[in-house]
Amino acid sequence: MTTVTRTTDPHRGAPAGEPLLFADDLTAGYLTGVDILRGCSLVLHPGELVGIIGPNGAGKSTLLKALFGLVSVRSGRVTLAGADITNARADDLVRRGIGYVPQTNNVFPSLTIEENLQMGLYQAPARFAARLEVVLGLFPELGPRRRLRAGSLSGGERQMVAMARALMMEPSVILLDEPSAGLSPVRQDETFLRTRRINKAGVSVVIVEQNARRCLQICDRAYVLDQGTNAYSGPGRQLMHDPKVVELYLGTLATDVERDSPTAHDDTADD
Ligand SMILES: Nc1ncnc2c1ncn2[C@@H]1O[C@H](COP(=O)(O)OP(=O)(O)O)[C@@H](O)[C@H]1O
Ligand SMILES: [Mg+2]
Repeated sequence: MTTVTRTTDPHRGAPAGEPLLFADDLTAGYLTGVDILRGCSLVLHPGELVGIIGPNGAGKSTLLKALFGLVSVRSGRVTLAGADITNARADDLVRRGIGYVPQTNNVFPSLTIEENLQMGLYQAPARFAARLEVVLGLFPELGPRRRLRAGSLSGGERQMVAMARALMMEPSVILLDEPSAGLSPVRQDETFLRTRRINKAGVSVVIVEQNARRCLQICDRAYVLDQGTNAYSGPGRQLMHDPKVVELYLGTLATDVERDSPTAHDDTADD
């Protein structure tokens, strides 16, 4: 047997230099005595798009919450451009340039789109007009609809509002929790393309995704989490073709089914 770089090494395939965001060996959980993250690490370098995939319950959402100060880190460290931000408060993290888009309940349904975007910038209201222009440039569909209540929008549109709101503060890093969940395949594709566009516009991205293959296609590097710890990491395309990752986490059945029945998605919920 030959040995290559350990596939659990969180730096595998990462560029040189200081990471923008570094989660180093985190232990974290909700209930006393129950650790959900058990030695979990992630690095995000400036300009990168990094994915997190893994089975349900692996701790993907918990990792994002730990990065954003929403679940307490019991051991290990989180740094942002070298500064310790372990267990910092979410509002402090927003001020320091981290945006977070939770998977659900991520808009204020009774507020209009524009009011939702204002909420994203409540810490810096004077910048509203300038930021609105930039953010509507990334989400041109929202402009004409800005007076509509977010609660009246489709799932795909609400997801756009949630992302747009997080971008209002001009974050250097954005954490996205399953932005494509519950959307039709066409809307899912749009979400992935838009995520890439946001990344190309200069925002470093950590994206948790249930659509593992698509995620590996678009990201620079990815992490496979399993049972609260790093199972595999490396460049997205490398993981996509790693026989172990395919066997354990990507599977072949789903793609075969998709290929055999082009209409299989017709009943997917969205608008
Ligand atoms: N608020 C919570 N309180 C207690 N346990 C939770 C809470 N949220 C998630 N968990 C548990 O943490 C584990 C990881 O959940 P999660 O991070 O949501 O996984 P994933 O996002 O990978 O599907 C699961 O066992 C889940 O039941
Ligand atoms: Mg989750």
